[in-house]
Amino acid sequence: MNNAYEIMPNIFWVGGNDRRIERFENMFPLPNGVAYNSYLIRDEKTALLDTVDTAITAEYIENITHVLNGRQLDYLIINHMEPDHCGNIEEIVRRYPDVKVVGNAKTFQFFNQYYSMDILDNRLEIKEGQEISLGTHTLRFYMAPMVHWPEVMVIYEVSQGILFSADAFGSFGALSGNLFADQVDYEGNFLDEARRYYTNIVGRFGNQVQALFRKLEGLDINMICSLHGHIWRGEMISYILDKYQQWSKYIPEKKGLVIAYGSMYGNTENTVNALATKLANKGIQDIRMYDVSKTHPSYIISDIFKYSNVVFAAPTYNLQLYFPMDSLIRELSVLNVCNRKVSLIGNHTWASAALKQMTELVNNMKNMEIVGNPIDIKSSLREDRGHELDQLAEEIYLSLQD
Ligand code: FEO
Repeated sequence: MNNAYEIMPNIFWVGGNDRRIERFENMFPLPNGVAYNSYLIRDEKTALLDTVDTAITAEYIENITHVLNGRQLDYLIINHMEPDHCGNIEEIVRRYPDVKVVGNAKTFQFFNQYYSMDILDNRLEIKEGQEISLGTHTLRFYMAPMVHWPEVMVIYEVSQGILFSADAFGSFGALSGNLFADQVDYEGNFLDEARRYYTNIVGRFGNQVQALFRKLEGLDINMICSLHGHIWRGEMISYILDKYQQWSKYIPEKKGLVIAYGSMYGNTENTVNALATKLANKGIQDIRMYDVSKTHPSYIISDIFKYSNVVFAAPTYNLQLYFPMDSLIRELSVLNVCNRKVSLIGNHTWASAALKQMTELVNNMKNMEIVGNPIDIKSSLREDRGHELDQLAEEIYLSLQD
């Protein structure tokens, strides 16, 4: 049974969902699956915008066959060569051998690196600003390098003001019938996963996202169609654009505190619990605390993008920083996280390395302010050092009042 949906006259969503998949890119947990979006425009010419992962080939082909209703496919446009969108290029070319496969020079370079089909006779190489007319619909191409790969491009459909945005403005999470963000409780049920998707997948490339924003300035955008997650229209367009402005500029969405800790026998954990209680007593709300050995880092990273302050607390292990914490902070650095207020707590029994290494890692990140005096616990925090924790709590509290 086909599952295509007409999102605007003669423009169809022909994608699908995968709820069985465990992890995106085999790294990021997908508790609610993921949607692979693809769009088909039916005009004097027909154009398919991106394909989908091979996990959902059968239903994808059914959707396309239904919408084309016996017509040929004139264009297959490849906005992004990551295999979650490219798994069906060869299948489409086999079914529609006269199709023109549209991409840029890098698209075809990557195609040849992944796939073996010879599409030399099919390819149509496109450049920045070029347009393809389908009849009443016109597709204008903008290169969007590193949002999320170097070959990425987005399309502005001129007649309806639709931005086909590749990975940008996407999300983890399958779609459940409601394709549009305004049909669901987005803030309550989906924003966290959109943030986790952006921050972990594209988070490093904030400057490139900003460059894309500059390119699109002045365009009248009535709809944004991403390759993952919901479609944006109406008031939800400015909602997601505002979020992307904050995330890509590494500006916290709100004042608040994330506590990320590692703890072997509960002593570091005990210290951050005491710290959180002191902050709660001062009126700080919505404190987010994570055990780095348990919670997948993508969730912690997402919250660190959201909030202004973070506490890192971890012991020394093998004369180094406890490695789940080491990898978390290094990944934050890779993602270019900056502009955060950081407090540090180390722990050791006979040789102190964790605090020193956390300090170095954080100091190597841009515009990270250390709040309060770092505390280096010796095995467990004794009552006689309680005043140090009181002082740290006070400093964090004050920094949250700025
Ligand atoms: Fe959805 Fe960068 O692939």
